[in-house]
Amino acid sequence: MAAPAEALPVSLAGKFKGSFAYDTIKDRLPQILTKVIDTLHRHRNKFFEEHGEKGVEAEKKAIAYLSKLRNELQTDKLLIALNDYLPDTALWNQYLEYQRNLSYGPPSWFKSPWLYVECYMYRRIHEAVVQNPLISDFDVFNEEKVHGFFESQQAIIILTTYLQELLKNISDLDEKRLQEEFFMLLQVSLWGNKCDLSISGGKDNSQKSDPLQSLEELKSFILVDHMEKIWSLLINEKKKNSWTTTRIDIVLDNAGFELTADLVLADFLVSSKLATEIHFHGKSIPWYVSDTTNRDFSWTIKQMQSANHKWMSKCGMGWEEKMKNGIWVYHDHFFWTLPHEFSNMAEVAPDLYAELQKANLILFKGDLNYRKLTGDRKWDFTVPFHQALNNFHPAPLCSLRTLKSDVQVGLKPGQGEHLMNIEPEWMIIGKYGVVQFDSAS
Ligand code: F6P
Ligand code: MG
Repeated sequence: MAAPAEALPVSLAGKFKGSFAYDTIKDRLPQILTKVIDTLHRHRNKFFEEHGEKGVEAEKKAIAYLSKLRNELQTDKLLIALNDYLPDTALWNQYLEYQRNLSYGPPSWFKSPWLYVECYMYRRIHEAVVQNPLISDFDVFNEEKVHGFFESQQAIIILTTYLQELLKNISDLDEKRLQEEFFMLLQVSLWGNKCDLSISGGKDNSQKSDPLQSLEELKSFILVDHMEKIWSLLINEKKKNSWTTTRIDIVLDNAGFELTADLVLADFLVSSKLATEIHFHGKSIPWYVSDTTNRDFSWTIKQMQSANHKWMSKCGMGWEEKMKNGIWVYHDHFFWTLPHEFSNMAEVAPDLYAELQKANLILFKGDLNYRKLTGDRKWDFTVPFHQALNNFHPAPLCSLRTLKSDVQVGLKPGQGEHLMNIEPEWMIIGKYGVVQFDSAS
């Protein structure tokens, strides 16, 4: 059983003036809302062409809703219940009730936990759109995601070319080489997490440099490196009887370069027989600007297939094939877009928890997943990762995350303080990363 909130360190929140949470709520979130309003504006003609005046009306209503939302946020109004009828609406409203019963006073944008209000904003953006059925299908972040993918084209070409060369003789690689290649592609997937569009307020944040060449240089910025532990787990699985399955689940984060890096890693894992099945988990609504939805996932594979580059398109075709024959499986579950920390998953989404228990290893990509793994609390830096997980142990798991928020656990004594001295903003600039493992036992 997860420990109750009262028994845990305090949640990060906007009420701590000068904190990253405060700055995000004050500056970054209104900026994102303004961008969403602008995007809807710019698509007025599209809505008109598709639905005539009624389409324009729908767009205007969504904009009015979002302008009001921005005002509620900026003036620290009380949070209100959702008013739509989606499968998760009741859960969101129950969560609001739960927050009302906590001791900090009525929930509001700056007083409530940051994790809650930030997730709530994205869910309210979704409400603005779904309340207007004519435009309910419109992904307000699609443009940025597509742009991010194309801006990373050169890096994607380098990476897919590398993969295809590697696959040519993958079955001849000895254990040492296999390990080296695994570490390499795991690190590309880790650093791919720099490319998120929420921290940049939706501004271009794509992969411009060669993603392989920089790895050596970046190594010293990995604050917790559990790659060896993950390797032991995988190689031991591989050495078991050949008819056993090894399932790896990847809880995805951002579309664009990061997703491509994750797919390259997934391809390598099955091609090298380190895994027999990969299960991807994406978001069921547009989320934190760049997070991967089902549509982004399929779109990316299609783009790869039709790319005007031999190795990119070979990758795309192979990935399509893996989806068709069930070696790769895509899941979405509304739990990923709820505000709950993962220690509540067994209670709130027992079906998803049971699904994750089938994995031999779960890779959690990105910063938001790290915040949800650790409950987004003011933990001491040296608290063990296992403890911060607060009884969330569906299977052995690993976080691949670049630091973009002020929560970090599992550091050595003095490590956090040292970083604080040499680089005061170390937790929020995406320069440092962790490969942090928990064996679940
Ligand atoms: O808005 C800030 C934030 O919540 C940070 O925690 C993080 O920088 C970002 O959004 C999401 O990052 P990621 O895409 O890595 O989950
Ligand atoms: Mg993200």
